[in-house]
This record gives sequence, structure tokens and C-alpha cells, in this order.
Amino acid sequence: MNAVSESQKCLTRILNTTDLSALNKTDHKTFLKRLDQHFPSLFDLLLHVYDRHYDLHFHLQQLVASLAANFSQRKNRLKKKDKQRLADPLWHKSEQMLGMACYVDLMAGDLNGLLAKIPYFTELGLTYLHLMPLYKSPEGDSDGGYAVSDYRCVNPALGTTKDLQVLAEALNDAGISLVLDFVFNHTADDHAWAKAARAGDAEFQDYYLMFDDRRIPDQYDATLREIFPSVRRGSFSYLPDIDKWVWTTFNNFQWDLNYGNPAVFRAIVDEMLFLANLGCDSLRLDALAFIWKDMGTVCENRPKAHALIKAFNCCLQIVAPAVVFKSEAIVHPDEVVKYIAPTECQLSYNPLLMALLWNSLATQKTRLITQSLSHRFEINPHCSWVNYVRCHDDIGWTFDDGDAAHLGINGYHHRLFLNQFYTGRFENSFAVGLGFQENPENGDCRVCGSLASLAGLQQALERNSPALIELAIKRILLLNSVILSIGGIPLLYAGDELAMLNDYSFQSDPHKLHDARWVNRPRIDEPALALAHKPGTPQYTVNVGLRKMIAARKKHAVFGNASTHILRTGNDHCFAYLRQADNGERLLAICNFSAAEREINADILHNLLPAREVINLIDHKPLVMDFSKPLVLRAYQVMWLYFPG
Ligand code: GLC
Ligand code: GLC
Repeated sequence: MNAVSESQKCLTRILNTTDLSALNKTDHKTFLKRLDQHFPSLFDLLLHVYDRHYDLHFHLQQLVASLAANFSQRKNRLKKKDKQRLADPLWHKSEQMLGMACYVDLMAGDLNGLLAKIPYFTELGLTYLHLMPLYKSPEGDSDGGYAVSDYRCVNPALGTTKDLQVLAEALNDAGISLVLDFVFNHTADDHAWAKAARAGDAEFQDYYLMFDDRRIPDQYDATLREIFPSVRRGSFSYLPDIDKWVWTTFNNFQWDLNYGNPAVFRAIVDEMLFLANLGCDSLRLDALAFIWKDMGTVCENRPKAHALIKAFNCCLQIVAPAVVFKSEAIVHPDEVVKYIAPTECQLSYNPLLMALLWNSLATQKTRLITQSLSHRFEINPHCSWVNYVRCHDDIGWTFDDGDAAHLGINGYHHRLFLNQFYTGRFENSFAVGLGFQENPENGDCRVCGSLASLAGLQQALERNSPALIELAIKRILLLNSVILSIGGIPLLYAGDELAMLNDYSFQSDPHKLHDARWVNRPRIDEPALALAHKPGTPQYTVNVGLRKMIAARKKHAVFGNASTHILRTGNDHCFAYLRQADNGERLLAICNFSAAEREINADILHNLLPAREVINLIDHKPLVMDFSKPLVLRAYQVMWLYFPG
């Protein structure tokens, strides 16, 4: 007896009793073909996760019925896209890719307003737009929408589900992929399931992790990391009305779902496919590291979390294969990469690159980024990094202590330094930022602030210093140059293209006051846009510089599907990598992370560049390399040395 034949037997039985009459002839054929292809893995994965559940067959049967129902509801337009994407699975590796993340309300008021922004997006070159969670969520504090009250209902303040579908179509016509959040670790405490649980319905109490007293929560708490220690100590919240404790990894109003219950998996698959059928191209798997809990562990990145994500992926492949998963694992780099696979998450945030870019700016040294990325940047060639400098969240220093120790750096002390550097507690720092979720027990802390403010523009403007302004602009462009060229989808955070500064208005809003991340969530208003379009302003210089690099990226295949080799430059202040495309194009990117002039021994470059004549794509000037002299880089200078092949 082997697993394949077991899964086949199981599928045959299920199909004998499943009504597929809602599928037309072609769909019926496609559906069966995809089941043939993906059901065996789905079966294995769920059998592994739910080994003790004797009613698993029932759940599989219900699951197949729900996959069929969702497939029958998928629009023809989307089915066509499924075919296209199956024929071109590496679409996300193209040099044309450029992403942005934004809040609907902060960018454009509502979904209709966002429609009117499409020309702005296309003009910037965007091909990927991540809309921060736009579902119905609790009034007041909703963790920026990450507490979802109803996955099938758009937040009425932003529009309707119909508006979202119209937008998805319009974005698609404009060549922009829509990315939506799939917030599946928890629901809001006013989700219908949570309300039923609270009303005493045992079936729905089993959707969450509820406990009658502190005994089990205490045992779990002993090994858990606290994510929001300033909200509450420990990971459980007390519900006085029903005298129970509920698992809440994040805020008290975000109840973790109980994936130990197969009914929860099924219910969430249904919600996921509803989102896929709205017409999105990617789902961002929010807080995916936390979905499985094992007593005695930190309850992050557990093997069964991976199995479940793969199982979700199988369901997606059967119903909506145009859609890819993006992993949001802001965890240790060893764990981040484990989510990346064509069968799990095809895309992943790159929190290590992000943290190390900021580390390099603070220290003006590139040893740690070079050391870490030289063995950590490479991933499955069918997958892509999503490289970012800032996002809506805080910055956590997720580098590996071993990589640091290798260079004689003590990880713990170094993180303390970085927190001080970026929160105004380090003399001579250029950065203006705020601390986030300081843990009184271990001193752990994260950093908030906008790209421009953390890179020095806010301080430079306050001091009215042209020299400091110039340095800040260079730092901003330097960080962007790396995400635009190192390999993967570059993801801008709305407002950063306009060099917007910290926004302190959250401090007068009682629902936001306690959450410093709002300092880096500004409203993209007319004055900000006007500043960036007014020649002579620093915002303009940033905007123009960024656009030039974007244009260069889009022109050459070497920025797309190409290999990346991290190089050792022999200079501790410079970071360099070589990119090579199959068509022979090469790009040697070199940047100076320090405010002083630096030299690189040109010998090192000799073997990398097949010819002396190259073009620096940053200024489009041809360059004849003289390998007998060192290459000189000015403060924060970036070179994109391009060889056409
Ligand atoms: C993710 C989101 C963050 C949110 C958390 C809980 O990390 O990016 O904003 O607070 O998940 O949903
Ligand atoms: C995420 C991360 C954590 C991050 C937080 C959002 O899931 O694991 O490091 O800071 O949620 O603030």
C-alpha cells in the first residue's frame, strides 16, 4: 500500500459522491486534471497535519466540493489568466516588475479614488500594487485593518466588493498585478465566528484557542516570544463575559485561529478562494509563521505551519493557479527561506536585506551585509524575493547572530546600538525615528520611521543644511538602487517615492497613539505630491533620481531573470554584486555606504567585466575601465556598470 494509491482511492470515492454539475464541460475536464495533479500532495499534507482526526475523509470531501464551487464561480477572464500564468510561471522575475504598497484611504480616500490614481501608478512604472487590508474591520483600532471582521466585505468607508472587482480589472488592463492581504492567522474578535464562540457555540469556540483557566496558557507562555509586549504581557487575553482565555499573538482583539481543527482549514480555504476570485494576482500571507502551535516551542515556523501553507497552495493551484503566495515571515533568516518554494510561497519579503541595508547606513560598513547575503541571497530559481527598504511596519533587526559573530560582532549589543542609532539616542546620528514595542524584560525593541526621516532628510531640513540634505538624498537613492537591481521584485512603500517625512499626527488619535508604526503611514496628499514635482526641492531630486533608476531597470534583461553573486570588494565600506543574464548581459553594481570617498582595487573587477568599455547606467555615461588604477567612489555613490554581452 502506498500513499499515492491511497490518495487515488480517496479521490475516486469523493468524486463518486460529489456533484460537479455546476462545472461546464471544459471546466469539468480542467478541474479533474488539476485534481489529478495536486490532490495527491493535498491528501498527504492534510493526512500529516490531521493524523489523529478520524473524520478527515469527511473534511476532504467537503473541501473538494468547495474547490469545485469556487472554480465554477471563477470568471472566464480570470481562467484565461490562469492559463497564461501557467504558461509563464516566471512572470514575477521580469525586469518590468516594480511594486508599491499603499493604504487605500491614505493614498486616495477610497477605491474609486484609487481608480483615478492608475495613471500616476503607470507613469511611475508600477506593475504590482499591494493594497493594505481593506476588509471590514472593527471601528477604532483595527491594527491598520489586520483585524478582519469579514473577509468577504470591503470596509464600507473604502467602497464595495463590486468597486474592488472593478479596480482589479482596471489595474489588470493597466498591466498592474493586484496584491491582497490574506490575514489567516487570526480574525477580529467581532468576526461572525468569534461572535458565535463568545455566545457559547462550542463548534465556533473550537475555531479559536480558548482555555478555561491559566494552566495551559502559562505553559505555552513560558516559551513564546512576545510580539506586542506593550499591549499586553504574554500571548493570551482574558474574556470576562465567558470567563475564558483566548490566544492572541498580536492585539487582544485579534484572535488566533485554531488550525488543529480541520474545519478551520476548510473555512479559511473558502475565504482565500473568494479573495482569489475577486481578481488578485498575489495573496500576501500575513503573519504566516504563527499559524501552528506546539507546546514547549516558540510556536513560530513549525513544520505543520509549512504543511498547511503547502496545502493552501494546492487548493490555489486547483482553482486559481494565476495567483501566487507572498510570504510575510519577518523572522530569523534561516526560517524565512523555508517558506520559499514553488509549492509553498513563490514570493517572499526579504527582511534580511532590508535590515542589513539600514545596518550598513548606520555603521557605514558593509561587512555584515556582504557576509550574510553571500550565503543567504540565493533562493529557488522559480521564486522571487520582494525587496523593500521600508514598509508599513517597524524595522526588526533579523540578522543571524552567527553571521555577526563571524565578524566579531555581538548580535545583542549591536541591536541595542541600532535601536539607539535610529531612535535619536545616539549622538551624531542622522536618523529621526521612534522606538516600537520595547520589551522591559530583555530590552528588545524595533524601529519606526519613514525612509526619508530615517535616512537623514528630516534632521537635515530641520537644521537647514544643504550639505546634510545632499547626503540624505544620496542615502535614500543608494538604498533604492539596491532593491532595484539586486534581483527580485522591488517594492516601494507609498510616500517614499516622494521622500515624505515622519507623520506625527497619530499622536493625537487615541486609537493610534499607542502604535508608533503610524509615524511611517502618512497620507499621500497634494502638498507632498507638489513638493516632489517642484524642481529644486530635495523631494524632487529623490523622485527624479528614483525614476531614472526605474527606467534603467526596465530597459535591460539583466535586472530581471538573472543570477546574483555577492562580491567581496576588499573595502569594508563598499557593497557589490554581479548580475548575469542568460543572454550574456552583465551588471556590476557597486555602492559606497560611507560619507567619505572610497577606493576599490580595480583588479577585482577585471575578471568580472569581459571588456573595458562599460556603461554606468546611473548616469548613462560610457566608461573605459583602467584596471591598473583603483576605482574611486564618492560618498554614497552607486555605480551600475553594464556590459551588454
Ligand atoms: C503583520 C502585519 C502587521 C500586523 C501583524 C498582525 O506582521 O504586517 O502590520 O500587525 O501582521 O496581523
Ligand atoms: C510580524 C513580525 C514582527 C513584526 C510584527 C508587526 O509578524 O513577526 O517582528 O514586527 O509582526 O509589527
